[in-house]
Amino acid sequence: MLNLRLPTIETDQFILRPIQVEDAKDMFEYAGDAENLQFVWFPRHSDPESSKKSIEDFFLTRVDRGIPEAYCVVIKPEMKMIGTVDVHTVRFGDVGEIGYIINKRYWNRGIVSEAVQILISVMFHHCGFSRIEIQHNAENIGSGRVIEKAGFIKEGTYRKRKYEPELGHRSDYHFYAINLDDKIVEERYSKEHYENTIRTKIRP
Ligand SMILES: CC(C)(COP(=O)(O)OP(=O)(O)OC[C@H]1O[C@@H](n2cnc3c(N)ncnc32)[C@H](O)[C@@H]1OP(=O)(O)O)[C@@H](O)C(=O)NCCC(=O)NCCS
Repeated sequence: MLNLRLPTIETDQFILRPIQVEDAKDMFEYAGDAENLQFVWFPRHSDPESSKKSIEDFFLTRVDRGIPEAYCVVIKPEMKMIGTVDVHTVRFGDVGEIGYIINKRYWNRGIVSEAVQILISVMFHHCGFSRIEIQHNAENIGSGRVIEKAGFIKEGTYRKRKYEPELGHRSDYHFYAINLDDKIVEERYSKEHYENTIRTKIRP
């Protein structure tokens, strides 16, 4: 049985907490921007009301659908919600797939890398996942770097998997995973690391 409620975690740069309806305005800033959405699979939001509806229908229904609450990133010191780093799919009871998007004004500051690595620890040692999967469009270099830096192991490539309207062609997708008994877990995502490092950042 997975633990689907997530702890709020604070780092030097940001707070990771479950998303809420009040985040709609901040979400619209990136979800309404075509450049920000180039490699994601949902259509551009037309107004803050569509962001609110997406939070209500897509994110806040997660626990009812057997998926962990969705983490969003709240940047300090502005305390603005700048994106989501979350488990969007659960398969076979204990396999979770991660996705992410961050407001383009905050790209390349290491934010998603740090958030993904925290989420991996939380998924293994708080939620109870045994395997974590992730995929990216082969042309999305930044996402590939995030995945590589987190220590995911590449398992294959789906060739010309999806037609990308923005790119005007079909793209390859690379697939990766980390299993609970992989060496990388012992090295970087151990239970001890979770207890001694991540848990100390949990806000009451
Ligand atoms: C992909 C994305 C999530 C990365 O978030 P981020 O917070 O900027 O990521 P980080 O800063 O942690 O790491 C990005 C890395 O990619 C590198 N990078 C980014 N764009 C790059 C490019 N075009 N070429 C080479 N490297 C690139 C950065 O230099 C950095 O690597 P480094 O730490 O070795 O310097 C963000 O760009 C985003 O939200 N994009 C739009 C949505 C999206 O593509 N989601 C993923 C779908 S799979």
